[in-house]
Amino acid sequence: MKDFAGKIAVITGGGTGMGRELARQLVAEGCNVAMCDVSTDAMAETKRLCEVEKLPQGLRITTHVADVSIEEQLLRFRDEIAEQQATDRIHLLFNNAGVGGGGSLFTSSREQWEKTFNICWGGVYLGVRTFLPMLVKADEAHIVNTSSVNGFWATIGPGFSHTAYSAAKFAVKGFTEALITDLRLNAPHVKCSVVMPGHIGTSIVSNSRKVLSGTGSDRLTEAELPLARARLVAIGIDASNMSDEEVQAVAAERARRFRDDAPMTAAAAAKVILDGVKAERWRILVGDDAKRLDERVRQTPEQAYDPEFFQSFAAEVGWRLG
Ligand SMILES: NC(=O)c1ccc[n+]([C@@H]2O[C@H](COP(=O)([O-])OP(=O)(O)OC[C@H]3O[C@@H](n4cnc5c(N)ncnc54)[C@H](O)[C@@H]3O)[C@@H](O)[C@H]2O)c1
Repeated sequence: MKDFAGKIAVITGGGTGMGRELARQLVAEGCNVAMCDVSTDAMAETKRLCEVEKLPQGLRITTHVADVSIEEQLLRFRDEIAEQQATDRIHLLFNNAGVGGGGSLFTSSREQWEKTFNICWGGVYLGVRTFLPMLVKADEAHIVNTSSVNGFWATIGPGFSHTAYSAAKFAVKGFTEALITDLRLNAPHVKCSVVMPGHIGTSIVSNSRKVLSGTGSDRLTEAELPLARARLVAIGIDASNMSDEEVQAVAAERARRFRDDAPMTAAAAAKVILDGVKAERWRILVGDDAKRLDERVRQTPEQAYDPEFFQSFAAEVGWRLG
């Protein structure tokens, strides 16, 4: 798809981060946007930011509350789009919504594990199922599924369990790669891409906490405090004498650093994604860290989960995660 003007794009998780920046850049190119999120306030801010630019006559930006892991909410989202965008077809589907967390079979609850998996994998699968008929009706269409570097490398470092997110992101990658042939056989005017970002500066750390805890609060709950302490111990910090308030402050600082100290902004990432769609590339690595990690995992797959692999990779690309 060479041009987005006059098209209709659906974005899941459009409230913040890369989803928000995709919405802004698509609107700037004259594309209608329908977004969903679990946060009404965040979507209102995305819409406001989109409207700061002078919109082309008749361009529509619609916001819809829907949890992508729940099929009936996605079906309602689809029906609202048909009505509010006055359409029976869409051209672009960005399955972008995602959360981290619930990473251990030992220390996370089963509910948290499955919530992460059902959002990151289920949301993509159900998103494609829900919108495929509307995509097929368009003259040309493109499905963009967001995986991660964790779609080919299942860790965020030797100190953390990361099973739910990694399993989901591997599934998104495998599904999208298999979809290439399914679409070629059955709907050749519909293309697809898998997006694999490295570290991108967004609020995913704090947003994930809000979604998984169900509190919508920036503060750790009583149940989360011991887990946050254990995380500190895992990265070599003695948390035994820290007060709860100090643990809260360290967690808030970690979320801030993830957003502010990343090698790439969400806006730059959205540009790479949209350029990849225009170039009809099926695999879109986002960031120099993602490209380098892809090379290194292919070069030495057997070493990929050794602590030394992580340390030398993090030093090479300047990752400061923790
Ligand atoms: N930030 C990174 O470093 C990074 C790296 C690799 C992959 N990713 C992936 O990129 C995608 C976008 O993440 P981001 O970094 O922009 O994060 P973000 O938290 O800024 O944005 C994600 C949005 O999805 C929404 N959301 C969460 N659960 C939802 C649900 N069940 N239904 C609907 N919306 C929901 C959140 O409210 C938020 O607005 C995610 O799939 C994430 O896993 C991010």
